[in-house]
Amino acid sequence: MPTKVILDVDTGTDDAVALMTAALSPDIELVGATTVNGNTTIDYTTENTLRVFDWIGMPQVPVYRGLDRPIVRSQVARGMATRIHGDLLDLPEVSHGATLQPGHAVDWLIETYLASDGDIVLCPVGPLTNIAMAIQKEPRIVDAIPEIVIMGGAHDHGNMTASAEFNIWLDPEAARIVVNCGRPIRMVPLDATHRALVSTEDAARLRALGTPAGEAAARFVLKRIDGYDATQPMPHRPGAAPVHDALAVCAIIDPTILTTDFIPVDVEVHAELSLGRTVCDFRFRSGKPANVHFATDADEPKFVRMLLEILGRTA
Ligand code: RIB
Ligand code: CA
Repeated sequence: MPTKVILDVDTGTDDAVALMTAALSPDIELVGATTVNGNTTIDYTTENTLRVFDWIGMPQVPVYRGLDRPIVRSQVARGMATRIHGDLLDLPEVSHGATLQPGHAVDWLIETYLASDGDIVLCPVGPLTNIAMAIQKEPRIVDAIPEIVIMGGAHDHGNMTASAEFNIWLDPEAARIVVNCGRPIRMVPLDATHRALVSTEDAARLRALGTPAGEAAARFVLKRIDGYDATQPMPHRPGAAPVHDALAVCAIIDPTILTTDFIPVDVEVHAELSLGRTVCDFRFRSGKPANVHFATDADEPKFVRMLLEILGRTA
């Protein structure tokens, strides 16, 4: 029985691979996608998401437009994101019927979870603005979410600042609300995604699949490798880059891809230098109960195998 999933995305290049993996996997029923400001503006993240489903021949997957700015702060991130993502993805304009659904993403999340059987896994892979707003607007949805699998966070090192990972950093107040919502949370941080890299050789294998998803994934992986090699090279791994969001989707399909610790995790929302840091209490110094299954490692060969297997499929 496939797992029902909703993806909340700030589609950029790795979100796109995550969307294709979720849409094409026989182990996932992709209920829909909600878009949020993040890697680029909401206009582009929404257009990119529509282009992805249109390109792989799945225009029927519903897409809902979400919030265009963080809940409290006004930070936006350009520069690094542009080199790794760009604004418009390198995909054709929509021509197979992919259509933006009417209504706001936050309202759709609320309606969908209230009407659900409590069986839809929520997978945010961008800033957590939509998710936090949905919880604040209608707290009753929390008990209807069986698990939240978040791409975000970092313990060893950040990528937006020395302390913080981008998704959490862009809207730390939203992240704090979600992390403390009381439901089962699996966090797929940089500590895991930086240990599951995809290489130029893997991109060639993706292209050789001869499928729309394989071609697009190859394009996006090569752009990511160019961007990472230029802005934040992976230690000892030139010619390879993380595809963060797709690892979160693969973790829903096969949880054994991650190594996790169940620990107390919270988000810094006040400090100047460590704003947006996921504070990981591995030694339980806070006296708080564990609330997050925090991934500290990932199985890179399994990740690449799963991408090749799933993106070799067609709609
Ligand atoms: O830090 C990596 C995360 O930030 C990924 O989700 C990427 O798409 C960006 O949103
Ligand atoms: Ca993302």
